[in-house]
Amino acid sequence: MVPVQEGRPQFWGLGGHGPEELFGGMPTPAYIIDENRIADNCRLLASVMEETGCRILLAQKAFSNFDLYPAIGQYLSGTEASGLFEARLGAEEMPGKEVHVFCAAYREEDFEELLEYADHIVFNSPAQLRRFGAMARSAGKSIGLRVNPECSTQEGHAIYDPCAPGSRLGTTRKQWDESMTPELVSLLDGLHFHTLCEQDSDALETTLHAVGKAFGDVLPGMKWLNMGGGHHITRPGYDIPRLERCIRSAREAWGVEVYLEPGEAVALNAGYLVCRVLDIVENSGVRTAIVDASAACHMPDVIEMPYTPPLYGAEGSGEGRHVYRLAGPTCLAGDVIGEYSFGHDLREGELLLFGDMAIYSMCKNNTFNGMPLPDIWKRGADGSLARLAGFGYADFKMRLGNRCR
Ligand SMILES: Cc1ncc(COP(=O)(O)O)c(C=O)c1O
Repeated sequence: MVPVQEGRPQFWGLGGHGPEELFGGMPTPAYIIDENRIADNCRLLASVMEETGCRILLAQKAFSNFDLYPAIGQYLSGTEASGLFEARLGAEEMPGKEVHVFCAAYREEDFEELLEYADHIVFNSPAQLRRFGAMARSAGKSIGLRVNPECSTQEGHAIYDPCAPGSRLGTTRKQWDESMTPELVSLLDGLHFHTLCEQDSDALETTLHAVGKAFGDVLPGMKWLNMGGGHHITRPGYDIPRLERCIRSAREAWGVEVYLEPGEAVALNAGYLVCRVLDIVENSGVRTAIVDASAACHMPDVIEMPYTPPLYGAEGSGEGRHVYRLAGPTCLAGDVIGEYSFGHDLREGELLLFGDMAIYSMCKNNTFNGMPLPDIWKRGADGSLARLAGFGYADFKMRLGNRCR
């Protein structure tokens, strides 16, 4: 059993009201984004910007529900994109703010359009810089190269570790020495690294030492250093003073402007997924409640990370507790959300509320098994509910053929 992720079970945003009272009238499954919690996170990030003079961007890969961009754009400097579509979304929905893009490899046919949206373009390799750098430069873009400081600060997590041996992400110092001609170096305005995943600022401090060791001779010639994402700044207990020291020391040591581009930290603990129990089955002493949401379709990080999301009203197991495995209705045997214990027996039709469902959820949804995409709601600053998006059969069908458009 994977433990419920520490620091994630945050239902205080519900103000003491139960899920049935707040969301009982809503068709399930559905996501709810909590505008107040997004604003709380952004205020904290804005305080880091104010304290240090750094600039913070929303990494849209984690959260790209653009109805919330006006609220986020009040505080942050702009958006970070992974390619053409996210860059366009950021430019359209957070107008007037910065758009930065990093992609492991750009496509020739996208590049010209990308130049319409992006302010900063970060390349992954000297070869990509050679191929597209001059074009980006003549369009007046700020150009960066992602570096790989070869400093893993996480263990047992290779798929989330860009510094794992053999990684394709970022240019190592060896690759730099082999390929970066003076002409290529002269195209650069900045360096970028992204090596962290849900980590505290001690890991950033370690990484910055490695960056300094590998690229300390290059950095004083740069205008900016982008420290990527993975900074869990809005998690309770995160060491913000240490983060601020890291940012200040980079600014002072190398004379660079500092960017951070967190995704999770912007929308951490700011969303819910509501679903209902469809059936309860028992096999070899394991009681499974099958719900109308799926880990594989609606919370894929539960399987990929893996982690067990927080669930309202569920606690650790103990005497007198009622333990259930919660699972989706798909054919995948491993479509299991996790094991939870309750103070009562679950019943068919009961409403369940998962927490921390705004990040890496809606933007990673799929319709495997023809599972419906959950509707998306916003819980506004005044507590009112507004449906932002609704989905049906056409959304499933349109991605598979041409007779539905
Ligand atoms: C280049 C880059 N920037 C930013 C992020 C955002 O990371 P997080 O959501 O963990 O803060 C990622 C995540 O993979 C990334 O690859």
